[in-house]
Amino acid sequence: MKSELHLCLVFSVFLTTLPQLDGTAIPNSKQERKKVLILGAGAAGITAAMTLYDQGITDFLVLEAQDYIGGRIKSVPFAGKNIEEGANWIHFLEEKENPLLPLRDKYNLTGYLSNFSDFCMRNDSGQDVTDLRTYSEWKKVSEKLFAMGKKRGEEDHPPRDMPVSVALKLLGWISDTPAKKTLSWFDLDFEYGDGEKGTSLNNMGFPPEKDFFVTDQRGYWTLFSDFYKSFQDKILLNKVVQKIRYSNDSVTVVTAGGEVFSADYALSTFSSGVLGSSFIMFRPPLPKWKREAIYRFRPVYFTKIFLKFPYDFWDDHEWIMHASQKPGNFPTFYDLNRPGFFPGSNLLFTVVTGDEALRIEKQSDLKTKKDVMDALRKMYGNTIPEATDIHVSKWSQNPFVRCAWTDPVVGTSWGHYENMSGRLRNLFFAGESISDEYYGYVQGALFTGRDKAVEITNCIKGGACKAYKPAKEEI
Ligand SMILES: Cc1cc2nc3c(=O)[nH]c(=O)nc-3n(C[C@H](O)[C@H](O)[C@H](O)COP(=O)(O)OP(=O)(O)OC[C@H]3O[C@@H](n4cnc5c(N)ncnc54)[C@H](O)[C@@H]3O)c2cc1C
Ligand SMILES: *[C@@H]1O[C@H](CO)[C@@H](O)[C@H](O)[C@H]1NC(C)=O
Ligand SMILES: *[C@@H]1O[C@H](CO)[C@@H](O)[C@H](O)[C@H]1NC(C)=O
Ligand SMILES: *[C@@H]1O[C@H](CO)[C@@H](O)[C@H](O)[C@H]1NC(C)=O
Ligand SMILES: *[C@@H]1O[C@H](CO)[C@@H](O)[C@H](O)[C@H]1NC(C)=O
Ligand SMILES: *[C@@H]1O[C@H](CO)[C@@H](O)[C@H](O)[C@H]1NC(C)=O
Repeated sequence: MKSELHLCLVFSVFLTTLPQLDGTAIPNSKQERKKVLILGAGAAGITAAMTLYDQGITDFLVLEAQDYIGGRIKSVPFAGKNIEEGANWIHFLEEKENPLLPLRDKYNLTGYLSNFSDFCMRNDSGQDVTDLRTYSEWKKVSEKLFAMGKKRGEEDHPPRDMPVSVALKLLGWISDTPAKKTLSWFDLDFEYGDGEKGTSLNNMGFPPEKDFFVTDQRGYWTLFSDFYKSFQDKILLNKVVQKIRYSNDSVTVVTAGGEVFSADYALSTFSSGVLGSSFIMFRPPLPKWKREAIYRFRPVYFTKIFLKFPYDFWDDHEWIMHASQKPGNFPTFYDLNRPGFFPGSNLLFTVVTGDEALRIEKQSDLKTKKDVMDALRKMYGNTIPEATDIHVSKWSQNPFVRCAWTDPVVGTSWGHYENMSGRLRNLFFAGESISDEYYGYVQGALFTGRDKAVEITNCIKGGACKAYKPAKEEI
């Protein structure tokens, strides 16, 4: 007992002196102190800034590491078109309260309502193995699976969570053929970024029903383009936040360039991938309960690959599924060369997820083109033309993003969601990975950005400003 106490004391002395010892003491700001600092200029940060502004809080700055506004919403030119490197669908069109719908209509954003049943399937010897019976069997099973997940999520019995693989067996489904694995991939990996074993039943909820694929040449970000018209000058680009010191009355951040910014409050909108890396130094360090929540909201890897061909040689279906012997091997191709998309463009779009996404994002585009062509030649034979151009999204390689979105690991419960969202002294958190209902989606970023800005406004104006359940500040 005694020696334990002694150890403990030594440890805490060490910790409190750490900032001086490792040269990380945070200097005083030369900038005038602001009311609020918003860290990150993606959908969450921009929505938060607009919300503050609309409520009369104009004394804020938005600090963004990259050289553009929008974060994971970004359109880039490719083969004569602008394509979306990040978010592409407006999900949940079936929801009346969807905040993105009035924006879509306001800008008359062009796009296409994806039809996930318009598909065919080919295997590695080029056979059309489309099997509508197995497909309808899977649809029945997956419907039950999602209902089961939703019910259990609402009841929230964390010890009773299970991987989807277990639930599928209970429902009498085993993904034991390439075709069945591909169907399962399309509903699980493509949405949750992990397969049957890695996806949490209790946290899967209902997948969106109606999804609008944005093809508008102004880009998906058009939806947010008016949010910051009145305060463009408050958004500072190329400000890489490296240190964050938070206390009960202020937050001070230091950038890679050594600039110091201070405010009464700050709102982090970083992805769970960024929060879970050691890129940003927090002082005091993030407590254990916060870190546990961050690590539970695992990064999803989702790589979008766009290909340009001299002509169209593929099946006339929206989705061309690939029932490969090798799971995860370009399981789907989306035909963009059709009415409603980019007719005449000869563009195809394919996706890989998880470890395969990490592998692809690390290698050269030339090698990736070879990998995709190998798969397509198996499906369509050796006479098909070589792709003339390729674009690969590499968010896992971007130190300011690191992942596509977030999904909770098996066993995550409401308490972890609360802790993920919970403030630390005057440092608040928003962003896609903080949303308990719409994590992963643009909606999640928008809602959390708005809600946290309202909370901060209340704190500033002396309204209801709840302290986060004073947590034991153990590290
Ligand atoms: C490939 C891909 C496909 C997707 N598809 C869809 C889709 O179809 N539909 C959908 O709804 N959602 C989709 N998403 C998810 C959607 O893009 C995100 O949920 C949403 O854009 C997240 O917004 P955010 O503001 O929370 O985070 P971000 O957009 O990541 O914003 C955070 C900002 O913080 C900045 N930042 C990070 N670190 C620092 C630092 N140290 N200092 C300063 N600034 C920093 C970043 O540069 C970034 O701009 C997709 C994402 C990806 C990557
Ligand atoms: C919206 O866009 C479509 C296609 O670009 C066009 O046909 C239509 O007239 C536009 N509607 C409005 C209200 O601008
Ligand atoms: C979706 O595609 C299927 C299969 O081709 C077709 O039967 C169905 O009518 C399509 N749905 C819509 C809304 O177009
Ligand atoms: C593709 O499907 C055909 C017909 O079912 C089958 O004979 C063939 O073995 C399959 N090829 C592979 C590589 O599985
Ligand atoms: C910050 O405020 C909380 C809640 O009011 C309090 O429990 C905690 O001791 C304070 N921390 C510091 C370092 O002052
Ligand atoms: C959430 O954080 C609190 C500390 O604030 C901790 O006591 C609790 O165990 C955490 N909940 C979960 C589910 O981790």
